[in-house]
Amino acid sequence: MDCRHIQFCANPDAIDFEQLQALFNLAAFWAKDRRVEDWQIAIANSSPVISMWDGQKLIGFARATSDGIYRATIWDVAVHPDYQGLGLGRKLVETVLSHPKVSRVERVYLMTTNQQQFYERIGFQSNSTTTMVLFNQPLDTPCSAMAIEMG
Ligand SMILES: CC(C)(COP(=O)(O)OP(=O)(O)OC[C@H]1O[C@@H](n2cnc3c(N)ncnc32)[C@H](O)[C@@H]1OP(=O)(O)O)[C@@H](O)C(=O)NCCC(=O)NCCS
Repeated sequence: MDCRHIQFCANPDAIDFEQLQALFNLAAFWAKDRRVEDWQIAIANSSPVISMWDGQKLIGFARATSDGIYRATIWDVAVHPDYQGLGLGRKLVETVLSHPKVSRVERVYLMTTNQQQFYERIGFQSNSTTTMVLFNQPLDTPCSAMAIEMG
């Protein structure tokens, strides 16, 4: 497939949430059945948010969070199955990496279950020494609300 007509967009307002969730239902095991209102929160708190378009069809997505100088993390990278293996995933991640919010930071992190080789092709290295995770409790319980109010 000739991909020269594929466009990359850094405007989060361009995101069509129905198409976004349809893409993730197809391509991303970790993000099936997300709610539009939750996507809106995630996107509002991410920068850059990069979408990839074949005309009006959303065919790829990636986003990052960044402090602008020390650390950034890339999230939710997905390419529509019909468009995989064409070099578009690499371009998508490189577009995130070249954004000013990410290009100047000391370290860029990401988490992946089984796409290590894809990211290695782009220059990422495995890093088993620094990563931990807290599976957080829902934030709308009375205790956590009280803790936030008390600062
Ligand atoms: C992972 C994903 C984003 C890759 O996108 P893609 O458009 O298919 O990848 P590209 O065609 O740009 O591949 C870039 C390079 O990585 C290699 N590559 C891609 N996927 C690979 C895989 N699973 N294993 C090994 N190499 C891979 C390609 O061969 C290519 O190598 P090259 O530089 O020698 O040409 C895409 O397959 C996808 O959306 N998968 C489902 C969602 C997912 O797993 N996302 C990542 C979550 S962290």
